[in-house]
Amino acid sequence: MSSQVRIRRLTALDIRGRKGGEPIVSLTAYTAPLAALADRHCDFLLVGDSLGMVVHGLDSTVPVTLEMMILHGQAAMRGAQRALIVVDMPFGSYEESPQQAFRNAARIMQETGCGAVKLEGGGRMAPTIRFLVERGIPVMAHVGLTPQAVNVLGGFKAQGRERAEWPAIIADAEAVAAAGAFAVVLEAVAEPLAAEITGRIAAPTIGIGASAACDGQILVLDDMLGLTGRVPKFVKLFGNLTENVDKAVADYAAEVRARRFPGPAQVYAVKD
Ligand code: KIV
Repeated sequence: MSSQVRIRRLTALDIRGRKGGEPIVSLTAYTAPLAALADRHCDFLLVGDSLGMVVHGLDSTVPVTLEMMILHGQAAMRGAQRALIVVDMPFGSYEESPQQAFRNAARIMQETGCGAVKLEGGGRMAPTIRFLVERGIPVMAHVGLTPQAVNVLGGFKAQGRERAEWPAIIADAEAVAAAGAFAVVLEAVAEPLAAEITGRIAAPTIGIGASAACDGQILVLDDMLGLTGRVPKFVKLFGNLTENVDKAVADYAAEVRARRFPGPAQVYAVKD
């Protein structure tokens, strides 16, 4: 008999059940090693399309493809055992019709084994969210600042800073929750608006730059580790890996140039 204990992976329903309870902890994860590290502390991990900018050096998330999301989704699934893995649907893979969204969401779930997908957009995406959920695909919604719409929004700008914008954003959050989204990401919205939405909808809100009034939080892992150059002002640095990596690489280069590396301890002994 195997002595291996199988860890139960959290599901979209578990996350849904945390509304108003213990805050939901989440980070992005695009690779197996970082997913394994974050898994110990997070309830869900998002394979966000931010990977296009963070890992692939793109200027926005718009050029990210389904194939990129699937590859990184597979890596995150191999790394994490307990956290729910949510994979972003990239720009152009779901907006055309509910049928297109279903085809591509099903492909993501079949090829990665993830437990849910995320897509951006409010009221206009509600029929698609309902279509997916009714056909067995758990959906996380994303309203407020939706980075895939950067070319329409004119930049990565905070939303809802004018009270006149609130009704539309509230209506978006209510529409996606009513359509069956198991959680709703609120990105870059003012605190009183986040509090208002969190109080109104039955699904947990996951804030990113949307204050502690949300039911949970998410950050781009590389941002909070200090690994990315320019980060939004709401990001708190919980580490400064750029300095650590820079120093490690500089120390290595200095040892190589001085012919001190590899030293005797790193060289294979000859078997005579
Ligand atoms: O792509 C991403 O990482 C995201 C989070 C910032 C919520 O959508």
